Amino acid sequence: MQKIGLIKTDEDAVRLLNIALEHEWAVSFEYTIHAYSMPKATFFYHDPTMKVRKDARAQTIQIGIDEMYHALQLGLIIQQMGGTPSFKTDEVIRYPRILDNLKRDRMTEDLVTDLYRSAEIVEGAFPKIQNMVLNIAFDEVRHAAQFQAMIDTLEAEGQQEALCFRHAPENRDKEEIQLLHEIMRIENELMHRYLKYTLLFSDHQDLSQRLFKNAIDQMRHWDKNSGTLVMLGDVVRIENAETDADGVEKSLSPMPDLYPGEDRMAALESLLPTEEELVRLYEKLLPLFPEGEVTDRLTPNLALDREHVFTQTYLLENARQVVGLE
Ligand SMILES: [Fe+2]
Ligand SMILES: [Fe+2]
Ligand SMILES: [Fe+2]
Repeated sequence: MQKIGLIKTDEDAVRLLNIALEHEWAVSFEYTIHAYSMPKATFFYHDPTMKVRKDARAQTIQIGIDEMYHALQLGLIIQQMGGTPSFKTDEVIRYPRILDNLKRDRMTEDLVTDLYRSAEIVEGAFPKIQNMVLNIAFDEVRHAAQFQAMIDTLEAEGQQEALCFRHAPENRDKEEIQLLHEIMRIENELMHRYLKYTLLFSDHQDLSQRLFKNAIDQMRHWDKNSGTLVMLGDVVRIENAETDADGVEKSLSPMPDLYPGEDRMAALESLLPTEEELVRLYEKLLPLFPEGEVTDRLTPNLALDREHVFTQTYLLENARQVVGLE
């Protein structure tokens, strides 16, 4: 991992904050993948900050969300300084054992705390950035302690060998499973795209908030669908991952680096077809299941994506009507 180093000029700040941003995208993604690969309400630990018993899976998701907010904070400052927020990510890894994923997460937190502490900001040059970096670094310290507590508890309870969910080999030939993976790939991509536009239009607050809301909806669908996959004997897929002989999955490109739309019209025009594609895929997927638990889980996602199609249609139409909107 690169160090942040000396921040003297705006260019230094943008370049170096982007290093941190790429890291935050990767971890927010990796932690959620690790969480979605472990069972719900099974591994509890005593949380050192909240002083209560917590579900390790649920808290790992929560930490992943903290990392997404870090990414947004960094992205907003980069945007405000006239830079372009990066969507490149570091490598994402999933080990077969739950403990190994938590150990990696713990190690990542130490690395990232060092990364933020390596920022040498010239005194008084960027006080808000300096403050942000300090605040984020302390979240990372808390995360490290939380992951460590999960690790200690798993070890104390003899759960070292507990395994993540796996892709069942026969699922490779099941249309419904492959369709659900494809839907989740698009939902994840779309969530990041909405976040990109949230940053891009950050000086147009109402539009930015709407796009942020859709990003969160997309994330909730991804979350819900990861549970549905587990019900169906599968697990969230890591895009472009290679699996080695020990069953360790690694991907250097778990999500796209680039998303379309560098201005308002291009961004809005690009969102609508993707939302329509999602609706089409859900409509294709639903009849493949008998009515029941699975369809009850999928139907609200389809319904909300139809709402997104409606909203995006009018965001685009309205933007076309207004004179002087850049
Ligand atoms: Fe972070
Ligand atoms: Fe963290
Ligand atoms: Fe949607």
